[in-house]
Amino acid sequence: MDLPFVPYKIKVVERLKRVSRAEREALLVKAGYNVFSLPSESIYVDLLTDSGTSAMSDAQWGAMIQADEAYAGSRDYYDFEETIRDIFGYKHVIPTHQGRVAENLLFSTQLDAESVVPNNSHFDTTRANVEYQGALALDCVIDEGLDPSIDHPFKGNMDLDKLDRVFVKYGKRIPFVMITITNNSGGGQPVSLANIREVSAYCRTRSVPLLFDACRFAENAWFIQQREAGYADKTIKEIAREIFSLGDGCTMSAKKDALVNMGGFLCLNDDDIAQEITNLLILIEGFRTYGGLSGRDLAAVAQGLREVLEQDYLTYRIGQVRRMGELMAERGVPILMPVGGHAVFVDAKRMLPHIPQSEFPAQALTCALYLEGGVRGVEIGSLMFEGTDPDTGEPTHPAMELVRLAVPRRVYTETHLAFVADCCARLKENSERLRGLRIVKQAPVLRHFTAVLEPVAGSLIVPEEELV
Ligand code: F0G
Repeated sequence: MDLPFVPYKIKVVERLKRVSRAEREALLVKAGYNVFSLPSESIYVDLLTDSGTSAMSDAQWGAMIQADEAYAGSRDYYDFEETIRDIFGYKHVIPTHQGRVAENLLFSTQLDAESVVPNNSHFDTTRANVEYQGALALDCVIDEGLDPSIDHPFKGNMDLDKLDRVFVKYGKRIPFVMITITNNSGGGQPVSLANIREVSAYCRTRSVPLLFDACRFAENAWFIQQREAGYADKTIKEIAREIFSLGDGCTMSAKKDALVNMGGFLCLNDDDIAQEITNLLILIEGFRTYGGLSGRDLAAVAQGLREVLEQDYLTYRIGQVRRMGELMAERGVPILMPVGGHAVFVDAKRMLPHIPQSEFPAQALTCALYLEGGVRGVEIGSLMFEGTDPDTGEPTHPAMELVRLAVPRRVYTETHLAFVADCCARLKENSERLRGLRIVKQAPVLRHFTAVLEPVAGSLIVPEEELV
């Protein structure tokens, strides 16, 4: 067997409880068929998100105990700043308590109701934060990035023709362009350096800054090293530096590739904007040397950023996710190909062709997966991204209906992930028994977090006798 090198061993464990199928069924009904409303103690393998769910290392915990909790000028802020400057290379480093605050500080100061922000694909909170300012969030990912079955090494790439059309139409209304690495809502797919270079050059001709949504930058750099000509001999840090040298700043959720449970930051080169944002930071998050974080959080981020650049760590981490995807594909489960960096995305449109998008096939599959094995994934489909046609008022549906199985970093073993693959395979074999859902109650923004749903025909799974 070709067994991977596992670059750590387990020092602390967390007990998991057994929850019976009958209990899971009752909990799912109580949760309104929304897995965000399930207690995490009722979950066996929790793949809801890779965000804030990493297992921290002994070096991170050690640094936390020694951290300096000074209000101003903490030693750990200087280490945080220096570590980030060393990798990202930007002039100003502004700590925030998570990624969406970095987005909100940027968007609330730089956007107005006339603004238009192009991105390869906005993630849900990013889109919502742009739209909250009354601005327009536009996705310009290449067409291949919208088709789960097409194999392409860099499905997160920005389509320059689409970007150009956005500029022709909206011109001066665009304050900056964003690139999300890796492209989370498009399947955790990487963006190539060639593409970043082209987008950067294009932005320069338009005199518009390029900013990265950098949550999973190290995973993106690993894909560049593995897949893009000329990068095989470069280290992850060298590749990361090259990526960021092509932009003018970034927003970062440290909850992903900084291997911490809470944290984020915003980096900028522009002095005036950084000053404006720091003023707002002090008003709403905290002083500029902690921005909503404890000294110990800053210490954990700095150490996590050093660890995430390790070759063995990334090879194992991305390999573990890919292996789970391969186990599913071998058993006929339709998944988004190629497997992304942080998650396997099951293609619910292909798996449940009998459930129309208006009945949330990916949400039905998410619920069925919890019933089947206590596994929690998350819907990335019509529940998350349904829109309204401005002309007809009719609902519009996203191109893909996906169930994302995001793997927390350094948390689960191969046995856990093989179990998840097995549950998905069993659901595939019984897919015609699944039925759709309808919404009972929803919030006006980011409804997927709190919506209450119910099965369209009384139960989620058609009883055996009704099929014969
Ligand atoms: N950008 C991307 C690409 C993200 O994936 C996320 C979070 C954010 C920004 C916001 O960061 O959560 O620290 O405020 N994604 C999580 C997820 C929630 O499950 O994918 P945050």
